[in-house]
Amino acid sequence: MKKQVLLFALTALILSCETDKKEDNKTVNYVKESHSYAQPNTSVIKHLDLNIDVDFDTKTINGTATYTIENNNASEIILDSKFLDIVRVEADGKDTPFTLGDFDEQLGQPLSIVIKNDTKHISVHYKTTNKTEALQWLNPQQTTDKTNPFLFTQGQAILTRTWIPIQDSPQIRITYDATVHVPKHLMAVMSAENPKQKTADGSYSFKMKQPISPYLIALAVGDLEYKAVSHRTGVYAEKSLVDKAQSEFSDMEKMVVAAENLYGDYDWDQFDVIVLPPSFPFGGMENPRLTFATPTVIAGDKSLTSLIAHELAHSWSGNLVTNATWNDFWLNEGFTVYFEIRIMEALYGKDRANMIALIGRQDLEEEVEGFKHEPDMTKLKLDLTNKNPDDGMNSIAYDKGYLFLRTLEEKVGREKFDAFLKNYFKVNAFSTVTTEGFVDYLNSNLLEPNGIKFNVDEWVYQPGIPDNQAIIVSNKFKNVENTLGSFIDNQSVDVSKTTAWTTQEWVHFIRNFPETITIDDLKRFDEAFNLTNTSNSHVAMVWYEQTINHDYHGKNVDRHIEDFLIRVGRRWYVSTLYKAYKRNDKVDEALAIYKKARANYHSVTAKTIDDMLGYGG
Ligand code: BES
Ligand code: ZN
Repeated sequence: MKKQVLLFALTALILSCETDKKEDNKTVNYVKESHSYAQPNTSVIKHLDLNIDVDFDTKTINGTATYTIENNNASEIILDSKFLDIVRVEADGKDTPFTLGDFDEQLGQPLSIVIKNDTKHISVHYKTTNKTEALQWLNPQQTTDKTNPFLFTQGQAILTRTWIPIQDSPQIRITYDATVHVPKHLMAVMSAENPKQKTADGSYSFKMKQPISPYLIALAVGDLEYKAVSHRTGVYAEKSLVDKAQSEFSDMEKMVVAAENLYGDYDWDQFDVIVLPPSFPFGGMENPRLTFATPTVIAGDKSLTSLIAHELAHSWSGNLVTNATWNDFWLNEGFTVYFEIRIMEALYGKDRANMIALIGRQDLEEEVEGFKHEPDMTKLKLDLTNKNPDDGMNSIAYDKGYLFLRTLEEKVGREKFDAFLKNYFKVNAFSTVTTEGFVDYLNSNLLEPNGIKFNVDEWVYQPGIPDNQAIIVSNKFKNVENTLGSFIDNQSVDVSKTTAWTTQEWVHFIRNFPETITIDDLKRFDEAFNLTNTSNSHVAMVWYEQTINHDYHGKNVDRHIEDFLIRVGRRWYVSTLYKAYKRNDKVDEALAIYKKARANYHSVTAKTIDDMLGYGG
């Protein structure tokens, strides 16, 4: 009996300590993180004051990063640094010794700074170098308007340390202020409270008052304009694109409202999107308050805007509740795909939502097949120790993560599932979660109270796709498959059957050509539907892939592919095409194009393609 009371008191004590700590933002134990040198349990950064000059002539950023630290009686603090030139370091205003440790290809170097046990602030004076991996410096030719240079950063997963010395783990949360000096005719914007107009002197001040993980610190500099979409949403883009962006994304406010109705208030005040030059390596990047997006999402008919829903959804899954380590990346992306598809359903209905889900389902099938000799890579919870976190950033996290959550939703019912998720975001707001933490939370807040048995461990910790997966059905896609079959059987095309098709139906049509399709079929389709000349980037990508697979060279498609690969740097698109060349024993063709295109790619895209084609190594 006594024992029980003691145990109870102890548990209550532990629980109350944990909540106390959370409330005053003194985060509890940080779990081991293999992609950062930081030792946050001893001394951790809490606030960043960044003061930098952006110099387009030398293509460098230089300045000072000053941190407010939480110091648990430490004699040193360790930051991550990669390809940075560290000039001088101060502790509470006085010069202090520092050392840069051995260089690691993935992680860079630990920057160890001597501090006293009562040191509260450290300042690092530094410069970026021409090896920086986060920054892409574009000359005017690489922009849309072709008259001014452009700069943007990409922090995820571990690149922030190549433009700011920092404790670069997703478990770290900091607020930040920044002063950024840029050439007078350009505008600077960040993942923070942003200007809507250029300043007269090229000096910009920023504030991010909510604590965010370092991979979400972002900066873009260019000849930008702003157009509002609603009182709290809007677009930044170069002059010739800004109106197109505004009308393409005109449903943004509706998306925010739909998202709030599902999982609680939008906590970041403003939701803007900046449309970057086409070399931006991702479709979108969820930098808080300011999503970075590829211009290839502007199709003219809003058909690719699920990408905006996706980046918006990260305002909850990812930015508010963050994966603790990159091994838990599926917690960011799987939840976000689920949430994205729910937003799309709320705005445009179940047909559209299921088509998007099925396109992802096919991606998943192909990814699992591609990993047939590395089944461990098809687990949701990964072990990326000694690997580049990028290795885990594939369809498994996104689409297996989605399928797991959708299967759960169907098992417990939407009402219970939504209440559970809403609470999960609320309870864990502004903190990080491990996979194990989520599994515990799921068991004790959804499954056990409702007496539901579910193979959670199989989904999360085992390879492949469990048998109880939800089966996603789309009558629209069934119709597409039948139509495709009939066009091939009849050796003729009935255009009237396709007039009402959406982008998703075209993508499904093209991706599901049978292995035995003939050049005549492809030619007939290209003549009837003008596929080679499509202005929709997703349709173009899947069509080009098929022309490579099946050796179709009509309508000058090879020229189009080459132009596309030189202009666009979106990694998912270009890697799909280079992979198709490789799979079809056409590496020489791929290399011939890659040699011309590589200079236009951001480092993350170039690295993926270098590895794929064995380029330069
Ligand atoms: N956060 C990701 C982009 C990312 C992933 C950057 C991994 C660095 C490492 C972003 O939210 C994303 O998933 N973008 C997708 C779009 C999407 C609709 C699936 C993309 O870029 O294609
Ligand atoms: Zn995402």
